[in-house]
Amino acid sequence: MSQAGNGRETKKAIVLITGASSGLGAALTRLLDETLPDELVLWLIARNEKKLASFASPLRHEARILDLDLSTDLSYERLNELFEQEEPVVHLLVNNAGEGCAGTFGSQKPESHRQLCDLNVRAQLAMTSLALPFMQEGSSILFTSSVAAFLPQPGFAAYAASKAFILSFGRALREEVKKQGIRVSVTCPNPMLTEFFTAEQKEALLKSYKRFGIEDPVRVAQKTLVAMRRNKGVVVTSPVGKLIRLAAKVLPTGWLLRMISWD
Ligand SMILES: NC(=O)c1ccc[n+]([C@@H]2O[C@H](COP(=O)([O-])OP(=O)(O)OC[C@H]3O[C@@H](n4cnc5c(N)ncnc54)[C@H](OP(=O)(O)O)[C@@H]3O)[C@@H](O)[C@H]2O)c1
Repeated sequence: MSQAGNGRETKKAIVLITGASSGLGAALTRLLDETLPDELVLWLIARNEKKLASFASPLRHEARILDLDLSTDLSYERLNELFEQEEPVVHLLVNNAGEGCAGTFGSQKPESHRQLCDLNVRAQLAMTSLALPFMQEGSSILFTSSVAAFLPQPGFAAYAASKAFILSFGRALREEVKKQGIRVSVTCPNPMLTEFFTAEQKEALLKSYKRFGIEDPVRVAQKTLVAMRRNKGVVVTSPVGKLIRLAAKVLPTGWLLRMISWD
């Protein structure tokens, strides 16, 4: 807590960003750092403490490094304790950390499915339920989903389903919390060449039809924050993404699945 001019203690306002140390999360954090009022404190979450600390050191804002693995219950216990002790006001929650699970479902290990659900699904719910009681009128939540949310993806089936979950959850939550003056946006980028993909996966991506939609994470972050400030519910940051969303709405899903599975 900090002291207000009248001697009374004021609560700290924070911006909580998951997956802040690389890719889209890093791009969002840098832009927020440039544009948000100085008094906000950034709470940055990722597993690798050293990487997160070196990412945070040039930031303008005070930053708190939280090296947490959001796929474990222990992380929420630690966060819960921090919230109870400090009672911050959550100005913005960026639910961004996520991971992929490429390949046919049968070729993947059940452990990787559990890991994917823990981070891409459970962590989104856990972070939201943790932060929501500390939000107030004017607070916002941003979820990172994907264009993969619009259409089932053979070869990326569990991942696409997890992103469809986030899109659905985010849209419903937006309606629930709007009476409290809390805004919710869901951003749906196309592929970005970040650490999300291995070198081998990047090579395969650059040979597939998906290469036509590749986006730059900095541009995605810029477009997302502009749309979020305009209170857009679903943000699609590229023309290709918009086309996929439209096609998924108007064309038969079975037909589209045959098209994208053709090789
Ligand atoms: N790249 C794409 O093509 C693409 C397209 C559409 C949507 N997205 C979505 O965009 C989001 C960000 O992806 P990205 O491309 O920026 O990936 P990225 O470069 O791999 O960054 C992922 C971030 O999440 C953190 N992280 C990973 N696992 C974590 C865990 N268990 N607990 C806490 N933090 C964790 C990573 O840091 P540590 O490794 O240190 O934990 C890193 O900061 C994800 O939700 C992804 O699904 C990506």
